[in-house]
Amino acid sequence: MKIKLTLEEKLKLLTGKNLWEIDDLGGKLPTFFMSDGPHGLRKMRFNGNYWEDIPSNAYVNNVNLANTWNKDLARLQGNLIAEDCIDNNVDLLLAPGVNIKRTPLCGRNFEYFSEDPFFAGQMAKAYIEGVQEKGVGSCLKHFAANNREVRRSNQSSEVDERTLHEIYLEAFRIALEAKPFAVMCSYNPVNGIYASENKHLLKDILRDEFHYQGLIVSDWCAVHNGAKAVKAGLNLRMPFDKDAYDQLLEGYKKGLISDKDIDESVEYIIKATEKAQENKKAQKVQLNKQERLDKALEIAEESIVLLKNNGVLPLNSKEKALIVGELDAHPYLGGGGSAYVRSEIQQKPLSAILNEKGFDSIATKHCFLDTCNPFNSDREAVRLAEKVDVSIILVGDNKMTEGEGYDRASIKLNEREETLIRTVAENSLKSIVVIEAGSAIDMSGWIDYVDAVIFAGYLGDVANQAIANILTGEVCPSAKLSETFLESIEDHPLGTYAGEGSYETYDEKLYVGYRGCDEYGIVPMFPFGFGLSYAEFEYSNLKIKKLKEDEFEVSFDIKNVSDIDAKEISQVYVRDVTAMVDREYKSLKGFSKDLIKAQETKRVSIVLDRHAFAFYDVNNKEYYVENGRFEIMVGSSSEEIWLNDFIDIELDEDKQHSIY
Ligand code: GLC
Repeated sequence: MKIKLTLEEKLKLLTGKNLWEIDDLGGKLPTFFMSDGPHGLRKMRFNGNYWEDIPSNAYVNNVNLANTWNKDLARLQGNLIAEDCIDNNVDLLLAPGVNIKRTPLCGRNFEYFSEDPFFAGQMAKAYIEGVQEKGVGSCLKHFAANNREVRRSNQSSEVDERTLHEIYLEAFRIALEAKPFAVMCSYNPVNGIYASENKHLLKDILRDEFHYQGLIVSDWCAVHNGAKAVKAGLNLRMPFDKDAYDQLLEGYKKGLISDKDIDESVEYIIKATEKAQENKKAQKVQLNKQERLDKALEIAEESIVLLKNNGVLPLNSKEKALIVGELDAHPYLGGGGSAYVRSEIQQKPLSAILNEKGFDSIATKHCFLDTCNPFNSDREAVRLAEKVDVSIILVGDNKMTEGEGYDRASIKLNEREETLIRTVAENSLKSIVVIEAGSAIDMSGWIDYVDAVIFAGYLGDVANQAIANILTGEVCPSAKLSETFLESIEDHPLGTYAGEGSYETYDEKLYVGYRGCDEYGIVPMFPFGFGLSYAEFEYSNLKIKKLKEDEFEVSFDIKNVSDIDAKEISQVYVRDVTAMVDREYKSLKGFSKDLIKAQETKRVSIVLDRHAFAFYDVNNKEYYVENGRFEIMVGSSSEEIWLNDFIDIELDEDKQHSIY
């Protein structure tokens, strides 16, 4: 749209009109409405006194979506939230976040996908495609290296260029293949310069290296000086800020920003408004709110990870079960902050759902941690435990212990929950723990007391239905962890260190998550990519076919040797055997989730392109494939490698270099 704007109008346009909309310049431009969040629509409306959240469907948190390892379900989650957006006239969904889970203490891990950038990028790309194919914009965030919540607005992430590209930008690079409507810059400085004013991040990398052509928007109140932000390549400052116009005008008068700088950002904003209008024509709602929730159950069921099972699961309907904990009637929807969805759904208690399914289950008196006398309710739990066949203990974190703006104080459950688990387990014939939380949990204080452990994550409005379906065996667990679960935070390379205050140097470089376990010889409680099933699988018959000098097809058989149909997640890791640079021992470069019927064998095939072998060449600002030997490993987790073979790559010099 060719539209004549005065300088004053242009400067106004560079800042939002309020919390959630751009400035439509008195109707000269179509506006568009933005809303969070990654796990459900958190649209705010002004009720005359203040902005309040409207009620909406609460879907699984992205920690769960990741644990499905199912890109189709990531796309489906995007579809569902997009339809909620369309029903509520929201044009841009401020999601997904793809920041790497560098420490299990990060308060927003429940919102992110993984410690592995390849995996996080693939899941986020599918999510974005799901949102945008419905005619709603998606906003990829928080660009970049925003890996803690404590001091997120002013502690600089000091990251060397190679680590920045291979670990902290790689998920963005992959997700950008879905062409998100917008990218949101983070609050934190990166190497000493605020992300909102960081030309290297916004122009050199996002625009020039990644060729991103969409809208670059700030995180809310992340801009310190609007003129410096525009100069660095930020297009839209959100939300409205009363000083924004004067900052820009002063910067213009001083010559800090030119007409060209201003017009460039204005152009991106106008293109965004045009795109939003175009999107409206393509919008299609196929499900009603309840049907969307029914679909969400499929995602939730596939997101529940079975971590330990001494044969007590699935439950036997002839056995009497005790449900311990207030999560029976009040499951937590998710972590705190902008991603938290206001839901009005009153879920049936897990105990009631189990009874409806013909299982005989009783629940302890429902009490909340902060109101009842824990000792009395725990004593009752123990008394009841002695009268049943199996105790199911529901524990976890919540929006008070993890969320935006604060990190977790510990990766353990709270002391009362740990004591409750041990006490009830000691007085039970059999015991199962179900964890509803958003990030890795240290289970070392109690796991040996219990017969089974389920990591249920945060499941939203369908939590109890999904948990019941897994416990009863109606659904076979098929999820796997997308982050490492350590025995203790002391095993983590960072421990509880959280920087020097004004900066934090990423000294561990590439060695994040399972990469760190390999590098430092850390034995995790449960490794990246781990999850049990009610079925058993056997891997065999690995074949590697060269498609091109730097592209290979990896294929192998998986046999389901059990008597139930089930889904298996297989993973392909690559090791640069003859590396001339410091590299991680192995990295995930492919995965597949496949339904395999009882006693059947499925042939799985995964293609590795050049990115599976390349490292980031800082000097030439490109990905580079060195010639030499690579090991291809196939496994059911990062620690369970069942098949391997070697390949040699011999590229002509000019083919070793690749921009992207
Ligand atoms: C918040 C969050 C961001 C969110 C935005 C709008 O501070 O960091 O993820 O989308 O502001 O609520």
